[in-house]
Amino acid sequence: MPDTAVAASPVFGLQALRVLTDNAAHLLSDLRQRMLEPKPRKEPPVFHGGQVAALCGIDVRQQNYLRAHRDLPQGLPAGPGGRRSYTLSETRAWIKALLEVPRRPAGAAACTIATVNFKGGSGKTTTTMHLAQSLSLLGRDVLVLDLDPQGSATALAGWLPGTDVTEKDTALAIFRPEPDAPRDLGYAVRPSYWDGIDIVPATPDLFAAEGLLPQMATQDSVSWWALLYDALQPLRVRYDYILIDTAPSLSYMAVNAAMAADGLLMPLPAENLDYASSVSYWTLLQDLMVTLGEGYGVQKDFSFMRVLLNKVDATNMASAMVRERILQTYGPYILPVEIPRSPVTSLGGLQFGTLYDMTKYEGSARTYAKLRDATDHVARLIDALAFSTVWSTAA
Ligand SMILES: Nc1ncnc2c1ncn2[C@@H]1O[C@H](COP(=O)(O)OP(=O)(O)O)[C@@H](O)[C@H]1O
Ligand SMILES: [Mg+2]
Repeated sequence: MPDTAVAASPVFGLQALRVLTDNAAHLLSDLRQRMLEPKPRKEPPVFHGGQVAALCGIDVRQQNYLRAHRDLPQGLPAGPGGRRSYTLSETRAWIKALLEVPRRPAGAAACTIATVNFKGGSGKTTTTMHLAQSLSLLGRDVLVLDLDPQGSATALAGWLPGTDVTEKDTALAIFRPEPDAPRDLGYAVRPSYWDGIDIVPATPDLFAAEGLLPQMATQDSVSWWALLYDALQPLRVRYDYILIDTAPSLSYMAVNAAMAADGLLMPLPAENLDYASSVSYWTLLQDLMVTLGEGYGVQKDFSFMRVLLNKVDATNMASAMVRERILQTYGPYILPVEIPRSPVTSLGGLQFGTLYDMTKYEGSARTYAKLRDATDHVARLIDALAFSTVWSTAA
């Protein structure tokens, strides 16, 4: 038995739990340090000229011309015959200058999207982070709000919840009843390793909000369901998108996330249990909206709701049957692109990273491209939805 293993005690009580969690925290921190070596920080990928050109929708000849004639980042020339390389922020400067996509109307607020599902493992965090990164490569500025006390999005951004970020760095304070508690979430926003993505991190302390919010619900003067909506208000002008990663529940905090959102996005694996959970989520949301309507006169209309089929395995017959049922249930709400079950995502998770962090995938280029094309397609569809709904009247 390795000497770091915890000796099993005859009874499993608080004492044993303490030993277990201390040991686990130590091992987890060690694991993370190894994963992020040589530096304990995550580094964004570097792009070569051809990649920058593709992201800008131009060819390499046009790019060479523009580099010489326009005031654009020059990148780092490699040795003779080598490829010029560009940092992520240089790449995004090129994208912002050249990619032909409409801009968010002047003065319009960010499109806020909550990623929801009742079930863990459906792909909420992965979808949120992939969407954030893909949108940033369309030149959009994104805030990711980690509202899941598990802090998975925070970990994907390279921060270990509880070590690199602590309670004061999370959104918890806005759910406090004290009169001097902040009502603007700006205090918790921090730039991430990824240019164009700021993050409000989460730690397990955030779970305390589930105790604070019911207390506030008993006070007539407090709109407990709108605390997050209000706290995001000052931030909305700073971003194109605010993406909220939620816990697998319809907790008090998740209600705040839904109420703060313009749109809901539900990643849904084509599995029976996931399908059943998704239905429970909508039933509960309906009950909740009835309660908020009858109890407080609150009415909420979302600008959009979309279901994203995730972890789709074309070779699995059972999964094909559930997929049919999902299509019947959610028809027009289903995004017309599916995310394949992919070894690339699992590998990214293993390395505390995402698809977009990988500069080189060891497996087949086709496998990588299949997932990347699908996630980029999702981002473009969501971007189009923002323009046709949230930003259609702003101008
Ligand atoms: N398309 C996919 N293919 C393979 N694995 C995936 C895919 N999407 C997510 N996963 C993996 O499934 C697990 C759960 O995903 P996650 O995004 O953390 O779900 P949630 O936030 O809903 O709990 C993670 O290990 C993740 O890497
Ligand atoms: Mg998650």
